[in-house]
Formats: sequence, C-alpha cells, structure tokens
Amino acid sequence: MSTTVWRAGGVLVLGAKGMLGRDLMSTLLKPVEKAGGRLVGFDLPMIDICDRKAVSVLLKEHAVSTVINAAAFTDVDGCESRCEHALAVNVDGPVHVAAACVETGATMVHFGTDFIFDGQSDVPYLPDHSANPLSIYGRSKWMGEQAVRESGCRHLIVRTSWLFGHGGRNFVTAILDQVAAGKSLRVVSDQVGSPTYAPHLADAVGRLLDVGATGTVHFANAGQCSWFEFAADLVNRAGGDVPMTPISAAELNRPANRPAYSVLDTTGFTALTGHRPAAWQDGVADYMEKKSPVAQAADRSGT
Ligand SMILES: NC(=O)c1ccc[n+]([C@@H]2O[C@H](COP(=O)([O-])OP(=O)(O)OC[C@H]3O[C@@H](n4cnc5c(N)ncnc54)[C@H](OP(=O)(O)O)[C@@H]3O)[C@@H](O)[C@H]2O)c1
Repeated sequence: MSTTVWRAGGVLVLGAKGMLGRDLMSTLLKPVEKAGGRLVGFDLPMIDICDRKAVSVLLKEHAVSTVINAAAFTDVDGCESRCEHALAVNVDGPVHVAAACVETGATMVHFGTDFIFDGQSDVPYLPDHSANPLSIYGRSKWMGEQAVRESGCRHLIVRTSWLFGHGGRNFVTAILDQVAAGKSLRVVSDQVGSPTYAPHLADAVGRLLDVGATGTVHFANAGQCSWFEFAADLVNRAGGDVPMTPISAAELNRPANRPAYSVLDTTGFTALTGHRPAAWQDGVADYMEKKSPVAQAADRSGT
C-alpha cells in the first residue's frame, strides 16, 4: 500500500475521544485530507464496539480503507472486578471490528499492551515473545490481539506501553496533580518500562501505514525507567518540592498485578519506517510545553 492510497481511502477512528484517539485524530487529519481522504472519529455513546451489528453498519456506511481501533476498557485495576466488561470491550469489540473490516476490505489497526508479558525477561520484549499476562486487562488485550490475527482481516497490531498524553487521565496527570496540591508521593520503584507519549505513537501509526506495515509491531519511546524515576523527572520539571518515597508494588497492593519489567524492543519499527522513537524524556518535555492554557494558569496561581 503506498502512502497516498491509505490516506486517500479515508480513515475511521474508533475510541476517538480517548487519550490516544484524540492524538490520532489531530495527527492524521492534515495528511489524510491533503491526500483527498476523509478522517472520521467515533466513540461512545455514538458507537459501542460491543454491538456487532452497529459496527458493521458504521463501517459499511463510511467505506474507508483504514479503520483504527483505539477503543478499549483500559482501567487495569477495574478490569479485575469487571471481568465480563473487559472481555466484551477488549475481546468481542475487536472481533466485531475485524469482522466488519473483512466485510468492507478495510485494513484494521489495533493496539496491544506491554501488560501481556509476565515481566520475567531482562531484555526488551520482541513482538513474538510468548505472552503470559498477569492481569485480567492483560489477558483480555492478548485475547483481543489473537482474535484480530485469526479474523482474516488485513491488520496491523501496534503494541505500546505506559501511555501518557493530554487526552485523558494517566500517570503524568496523577503525579502533576499531587505536586500542584503539595502532597507527598509514594511511587513504585520495582516496575520498569518505557513511558510513551501519545502524539509520538500517533505519528508512528502514520509512518507504519505509509510503508504498508502489517502484522505485530512494537512502538514505545526510547529508554526505560521505573515509575519512581518517571515521577521524579516530572516533579523536577514541574519545579515541585514534594517529599518522594520509593515503594514496592507489593506495598501498593493494587488489585491487578503488573509486570516488573515490560520494556518493548522497537527495532522492528525502526527497520520498517527508518525512524527511531524519541526518548521518553522528549515526550515529557513536549507534554509540559503543550500543557493546556487552563492547566498552566492553574499552575501559576497555585490552584
Ligand atoms: N493507557 C496505556 O497506558 C496503554 C498502554 C498500552 C496500550 N494501550 C492501549 O492503547 C489503546 C488506547 O488506549 P488509551 O489509553 O487511549 O485508552 P482510553 O483513554 O481509555 O480511551 C479508550 C476510548 O475507548 C472508549 N470506549 C470504551 N469502551 C468502548 C466501547 N464499548 N465502544 C466504543 N468505545 C469505547 C472510551 O470511552 P469512555 O472513556 O467513555 O469509556 C475511550 O474514549 C488501547 O487499546 C489500550 O489498551 C494503552
């Protein structure tokens, strides 16, 4: 598929109001429209990907060449108590999208997570490393990936990790809120991964589509850190002066288990696109620079 073909054929984003969905919409708009295509986005309540018929009708109505499924149930701890909902959104949802893509001939882009791995590796995970999820969220996302692979639709699965961006609540917003409130921080120091900036991931999706990539590809920002190191970097940039204590995941005792190590090997992405992911710190720097005027004003006034 050449660059212009997928762009001109139109793109439909599901989960368009989520954190990644918003960045996909803003990043892909210009290139798609410039090529003469249309970019359309849908989310709850307009479309529920758990509704097979509705998904099929929507995709037939819009007849685009590329469908990007950024819709998911991403509350990792919430999945433990809402297992059925996790399976409905993260497994049945992708099944319905993939089936509709088979019907319409569209290419499906889907997102996977580092939480499908058990964290026992001490080197970055390659895309074909065996999955062994530790949580319901991880299991549901792995089953969703598998279903997309088995559906027969032309697909690209982009696995990513530790996403942050402006379009939703995430680790960065949680830490910065605590800093703004002058609260002390207790942050997990025995889990290591690669924070990934949603606009960089959205750009990576465009690059992968440009080269007609299919199959499973890992994309994350370069470098690795613990949640504690990530938080320390944020506190430092925010100019906060709050006490920080490193704690173990066991001490935090969250409902869902998470891998101790989940760094993704992104050499496949670079080989395909010729592009190296930026360092996670570059993503944080851009995030801080583009903080919304409302948040900046609140920071200045200390509210
Ligand atoms: N966040 C991370 O750290 C992370 C890490 C690795 C991989 N990923 C993957 O990256 C993708 C995007 O994640 P994200 O962080 O952008 O997620 P997000 O912010 O939670 O956005 C997901 C969007 O999907 C919508 N949605 C939920 N259920 C739906 C349904 N049944 N039908 C249609 N839309 C539905 C949500 O709406 P509501 O908000 O109204 O529920 C939300 O707008 C997901 O596949 C996720 O698993 C995320």
